[in-house]
Amino acid sequence: ATTEDLQTLVLTTLDKANSISDSKDLTYNDAPVDQLALLGALNSLKSKDMIDFTPIDRISWTLTEEGKQVAKEGSHEARVFEAIPAGEEGLPIAELQAKFGPSAKAGQGKAFKNKWISKNGANLVRLVDSIVDETQRDLKQIESTGTLENQKTLAELKKRTLIDKQKTTTYSVSKGPDFSLQVKKEATDITYDMLQSGEWKNATFKKYNFDAAGVPPHGGHLHPLMKVRQEFREIFFEMGFQEMPTNCFAESSFWNFDALFQPQQHPARDAHDTFFLKDPATSDRYPRDLMEKIKKTHEDGGDTGSIGYNYVWKEEEAQKLILRTHTTAVSSYMLHKLSEETKKTGVFRPSKLFSIDRVFRNESVDATHLAEFHQIEGVIADKNLTLGDLIGFMDVFFKKMGMDKIRFKPTYNPYTEPSMEIFSYHEGLKTWVEIGNSGMFRPEMLLPLGLPPDVRVIAWGLGLERPTMVKYGISNIRDLLGHKVNIAMIKDYPICRLDKKMGKELVGLSE
Ligand code: PHE
Repeated sequence: ATTEDLQTLVLTTLDKANSISDSKDLTYNDAPVDQLALLGALNSLKSKDMIDFTPIDRISWTLTEEGKQVAKEGSHEARVFEAIPAGEEGLPIAELQAKFGPSAKAGQGKAFKNKWISKNGANLVRLVDSIVDETQRDLKQIESTGTLENQKTLAELKKRTLIDKQKTTTYSVSKGPDFSLQVKKEATDITYDMLQSGEWKNATFKKYNFDAAGVPPHGGHLHPLMKVRQEFREIFFEMGFQEMPTNCFAESSFWNFDALFQPQQHPARDAHDTFFLKDPATSDRYPRDLMEKIKKTHEDGGDTGSIGYNYVWKEEEAQKLILRTHTTAVSSYMLHKLSEETKKTGVFRPSKLFSIDRVFRNESVDATHLAEFHQIEGVIADKNLTLGDLIGFMDVFFKKMGMDKIRFKPTYNPYTEPSMEIFSYHEGLKTWVEIGNSGMFRPEMLLPLGLPPDVRVIAWGLGLERPTMVKYGISNIRDLLGHKVNIAMIKDYPICRLDKKMGKELVGLSE
C-alpha cells in the first residue's frame, strides 16, 4: 500500500467509525497494515490537522525458528516421551540418540525433570501413562496472541531460545479540526508561476517541521590542525597581531638562513636536515644591496660592530632553493619589508606579526616526528624592547592558551641573543616540558635588514602538532598528518571544542 492508499484507508475508516482505537486492527486488501508505513501516512495527515493520533506501545513475543518447530511438532521432551513405548522394556538410550540426534539430550533431561521418564539400566522407560505438552500449548498460544499470562513461563521460554521479545507500536487515531476525506495538496515553496497566476492566494503551505533531524554535512570538514590553528590565530588577533603571508613553501636559503645570520657551513644547512629543490634549484630574488650587506656581516661584521664569522660568504649557497625549515624565513622577509617602509615614510611603525604554517625538515619519520609540521611564530618589533618585554608577552600568550606556569632556560640560536627555551609545567607528568623557543633578534640580523638601530625585535616559536594531539587524544603523529590519515576521522571529530585549559596536559611542543 502506498502512503496515499493508507491515508485514504485512515480517512474513510474515521469517516465511518469516527475513531480508530487501535491501528493493529486495520487491514488493507485483507492483510494487516505495516505500522511503520502507516506512521508516515499519519504524520503527514496530522501535519495538516486532519487527524490526531497517539502511539500505543506494547511488548509482544514471537517464536524463533526452533520455537515454530516445537509449536508444530511438539517439544523435545514430549517427543522423547512419545518415542518410548509403554511398558517395562522401554527404549535403549542409544536408539533414542540415533533417532533424535543432538536434541535428544535436552528433551531427555527435561522429560526426567518433569518425572515423565526414568532410566532402567541402559533403557529409558515411561513413568506416566500420558502427558500434556505444556510447552507446545504455550508456544501455540504465543503464536496466535503474541503473549502469555504467566511471565515466568515467558522468561523460561525466552531462556530456551524458543521465543523472542519484540516491541511494537500501533496507534489510536481520531479526527482533527481540519478533517476531510480529501487530502489537500500543500505547497512547499511559493513559485513564480503561483505569483503570476494568483494561485498563491488559495494555496495551503506546508508547515515547517522544526523537529526534523538535520542532514549531517557531507563536506566542509576542517582538519583538527586547522581548528587548533584558528584558536591560536584568535589569541594573536586578541593581542593585536597581524598575520604574515606564509603561502610560499619554497624559499631561497637567503631568507631562510643568510638573512638570519646563520653561517653557510652551519649543520642545519646540510642535506640531512634540509630539503633542497632540484628544479628550479636556485633563486636570486632578493635585493642585491641587502645581499652585499649580509655578505659583509657574515664575513667580518660589516657596520654592526660584530666581528662576523670570519669566512668567505658565497652567493651560490644563498641562492639554493629549499623547502623552508622554519617560519622565521618569512619573519626575516617581513622585517626587511618593514625597514623598506620605514625608509620610504621616514617613520618606523611598531609591528606585531604572527604566522602559523607548514615547515619542512629532512628527518626520519617516527611516532612523534614528521618531515613536515606546522610552526606558530610571534614577532614584535618596537623601539627599546627588552628581554623583560619578551618574557611578559609570552606570559600573556601562554596564559591565554591555558598554561600559567612558564619557565625559561638560556639556549643558542644563530639569529637571537639572548635566546630562551620555553618550558611549561605539566600537571599530569609533574614535570617541566619544553614547549618552544624564543629570543631577541641579533643586531647582525636586524642592522643589515635596514631597521633603525634602536629597534629591537623579540620573537618566539612553537609547534602546532603537539597541542593538537593533546587536545584530540592522538598519540601517533602519523594519525594526524600525512598520507596515512584516516579521512573519516576528520569528519567524526567534533566541529568545535569548548575546552580552554589544554595547557594543563601539554606535552613538549616544538617539533
Ligand atoms: N625558528 C625557531 C625554530 O625553528 C623558533 C624561533 C623563532 C626561535 C623565533 C627564536 C625566535 O625552532
